[in-house]
Amino acid sequence: MQLRYVDSDSLSHATPLLAVGIVKGAVDAEGSLGQLDEALKGALRRALGSSDMRGRSKDEVVLYGTEVGPERVLLLGIGAADEVDGEAVRRFGARAVRVAERLGINSLSLSLDGLGQVDDDTAAQAAAEGAALAAWKFRELKSGDEDDDEDVTAVDVLGGGERAADSVALGATIGAAENLARTLQSRPGNVATPSHIAAEAQRIGEDAGLEVTVFDEARIREEGMHAILAVSRGSEEEARFIIMEHKGGAEGEAPLVLVGKGLSFDAGGISLKPPGGMEDMKFDMSGGAAVIGAMQAIALLGLKVNVVGIVPSSENLPSGTALKPGDVIDTLAGKTVEVINTDAEGRLILADALTYGARLNPAAMVDCATLTGAVVIALGNHAAAVLGNDEGVVEELVTAGSESGERCWPLPLWKDYRKQLDSEIADLKNVGGRPGGSITAACFLSEFVGDAVWAHLDIAGTAYGDGKLPYQRKGGYGFPTRLLVQWVRSRAG
Ligand code: BES
Ligand code: MN
Ligand code: ZN
Repeated sequence: MQLRYVDSDSLSHATPLLAVGIVKGAVDAEGSLGQLDEALKGALRRALGSSDMRGRSKDEVVLYGTEVGPERVLLLGIGAADEVDGEAVRRFGARAVRVAERLGINSLSLSLDGLGQVDDDTAAQAAAEGAALAAWKFRELKSGDEDDDEDVTAVDVLGGGERAADSVALGATIGAAENLARTLQSRPGNVATPSHIAAEAQRIGEDAGLEVTVFDEARIREEGMHAILAVSRGSEEEARFIIMEHKGGAEGEAPLVLVGKGLSFDAGGISLKPPGGMEDMKFDMSGGAAVIGAMQAIALLGLKVNVVGIVPSSENLPSGTALKPGDVIDTLAGKTVEVINTDAEGRLILADALTYGARLNPAAMVDCATLTGAVVIALGNHAAAVLGNDEGVVEELVTAGSESGERCWPLPLWKDYRKQLDSEIADLKNVGGRPGGSITAACFLSEFVGDAVWAHLDIAGTAYGDGKLPYQRKGGYGFPTRLLVQWVRSRAG
C-alpha cells in the first residue's frame, strides 16, 4: 500500500473518497468544515444537524455532490474534542480504509483537520499507522481471489502541521513493520518453522541494513544453550538462535536488547495441550515476530542508538526423543532446572536467550513472549503484563504503551513468589503452580538476566485475537511492534 503525505487542502485534492473526522458537538460547520459545507451545498451542515452524525465513534455518513476535489466525503465520528488521542486517530484512519474496501474504492484521502485536541505530529503518525495496518491482508496461502472487498492500495494524508510529512513517513514505517510481524505470525507451523523464521529475519534484516547472525543447532550446542536444545529435542525441525544488530549509536555504547519468544508451534510437548484451539499455538512466535518487525523499523528509521534483537526459535512437540516431565536440564547460565511441565517451554528458551542478552552488557533489556494463559485471566485482552527488576524501565514501557496504543500494565515481581519455584533436586522448577502464574513465570526469567536492567512483557492476551478494532483482523496483531519501537525511540532521545 502506498501511503504519502500531500501538502494540499482537502478541497483541492482530487480523490474518490475524503475522510473527515467529526468531533462531538460539531454542529456549526466552522473553519475547514465550513468550506467543505459550501462545496457540498449545505449537505454537511444538514448531516451534522441530523441524528445520524453526532460525532460518536460509531457514526459514519457518506456525502456526495462536491464539484471540487473529493468525489465523496466520508464523515467519521471521533468522540469528544478534548478526548481525541493518537488511538482515536489510528482508528479513524483504519475506519476510512474499511469503508473504502466496502465501497470498492482502492484509493482515499485522510484529512487531519478538525481532529480535536490531539497534537499534529501524533495525529499524522497515528492516521498513517491506522491506514497501513487496516489495509494489510494475509492471502498468500489462498489459491483464488475470492475476496469481496476491494484492496486499498493508496492513501494520501492531507493537512497536519509543519512536520506532517515526517510523521506520516514514521507512521508508514512502523505500520509496515507491524504488518511484517503479522505476516510472520499468520504463517502456520509447517511454513514458519524455526529455520524459515531465521531465513526471513536474515532477508528482512539485511534489506534494512541490520547485521544478522543465525546460530544453527550445532552452534547452539557449542554455545551451551542447553535449555533451547531441551525444548527442541522432541522435534524434527532444528532450532535456530537469531541475532539482529542495529549499530546506530557510538561504537562500544551499551546496546538496548530486545528478546522475543519464537516458538514456532507449541503443542505442549509430552505435557500435551488439549486439541481445542491448539492451532492458535502457531502464534507462539508472536514475540519473535514483533522483535523482527521492530528491528526492521529501528534500522529504517536510523535511530541513533545501538540495538540488538534476539529471537530463540524452536518447536515444542511430543515424541520419543522429547523432554519429559521430571527431567533436569542445564542452562547457558549454569543453573539447573527441573522440568515439571514441558508446556512451560517459553521460559526455558528465553532463559538462554536472556543469559546471552545479559552478557552483551545492555543498557536495558526487554523481552516479549506469549508466555502464560494466566495473563489473560489477570488483564484480559486490553493490555500486556509488564514485570521487571527496574521500576524506571517498567514505567518507560507503560508510557510507550499508552503512546503507541499497545498498552501494558505492571504486575509485581516480589521475591515472595520465588518460593513457588523451589525444587528438591535442582536449582529451580519451571512451574510455580496456578497462583500468580504470570508472576512466577517472570520470576523464573529474572533468574537468568544476571545484573541486567530488564523487563518482560507477557503478550499471551494481546498478540492475536478476533480482530475487534478497525485496524486489526482476526489473527495476529503484530503486538508489541509499535510499543517496542516507541520505547527504543524514547531511549534514543
Ligand atoms: N504458549 C503458552 C502460553 C499461551 C497460552 C499463549 C495461551 C497464548 C495463549 C505457554 O508455553 C504455555 O503453555 N504456558 C503454560 C504454562 C503452565 C504449564 C505453567 C500455561 O500458561 O498454561
Ligand atoms: Mn507451552
Ligand atoms: Zn508456549
